Amino acid sequence: MTAPPARPAGIAVLGSANMDLVAYVKVAPARGETVTGESFRTVAGGKGANQAIAAARAGGAVAMIGAVGDDDFGGRLRAALADAGVDTGRLRTAPGPSGIAQIVVDGEGHNAIVVVPGANGTVTGLTSDDEAVIGRAGALLLQLELPLAGVLAGARAARAQGVRTVLTPAPAQPLPDELLAVTDLLVPNEHEAAALSGRRDPRAAARALLDAVPEVVITLGAAGSLHAVRGREPLAVPALAADVVDTTAAGDTFVGALAVALGEGRETADALGWATAASALSVEHPGASSSMPHRAAIDARAA
Ligand code: ADP
Ligand code: NA
Repeated sequence: MTAPPARPAGIAVLGSANMDLVAYVKVAPARGETVTGESFRTVAGGKGANQAIAAARAGGAVAMIGAVGDDDFGGRLRAALADAGVDTGRLRTAPGPSGIAQIVVDGEGHNAIVVVPGANGTVTGLTSDDEAVIGRAGALLLQLELPLAGVLAGARAARAQGVRTVLTPAPAQPLPDELLAVTDLLVPNEHEAAALSGRRDPRAAARALLDAVPEVVITLGAAGSLHAVRGREPLAVPALAADVVDTTAAGDTFVGALAVALGEGRETADALGWATAASALSVEHPGASSSMPHRAAIDARAA
């Protein structure tokens, strides 16, 4: 008998929750045009909520910090997170609408998206209760769909309490030095890495980003990921072969699973293998949060 694992450290997510309003249409409308679509669905999304749900499915004890509106969507977003096992005690309800993403998917699978931040835009700072939740976590996951002031407040609260910060720099935008200074692990995809570093080659991008942060993982879609630590050659992590159905939120699934493995004290190389298995499973199923795998499935795929 092996000893039971130490109680896993929790994960705090400071990020966005959006209701995705997805319309499927053969050909997207041009300016001034009205077209009849084929189907429509609403589904909980936003990078913060997606990473929180991915981490919870992967077995993490996850608390979400952020805001939803006082509309019907707010209640549904809260319920979707709670159903996945995410603690929503620090998810506030702000007067006004929830964040939404209006998505038009055309017959070739291309999409056009409008995001209206709504309640997410109210998260410009943290309460002492938010800071306490971060202090109890093993890692804080951050993205860039909240106001920068809020993201910075969270990263600083984590650093002050010795909690590791994991930043997904999406949507890509220039990162202030104050934020990079309190980022422990940066996880861009290849497009974000190129935008941030000005280098298209992922190895060159990784080396450039290491000037600003101590550790970088660049995700490369079907090509896997690249792990870079200051003072060492970047290491390639191949993807697992997958029957690709839908790559939506592959990156969020990857980060959520990575955080769970790191929070349990696993070495980064080992944690990356597990996150790679989680994201391979996610691309084999349709949808975003609905495709995020549970721990047992990840263990089986990683074996
Ligand atoms: P994002 O969704 O943020 O753009 P990526 O597309 O880079 O992120 O995917 C994140 C991870 O998901 C990759 O590092 C890889 O492990 C896995 N993945 C993505 N696409 C595929 C694919 N076609 N086959 C297998 N694994 C994939
Ligand atoms: Na993707």
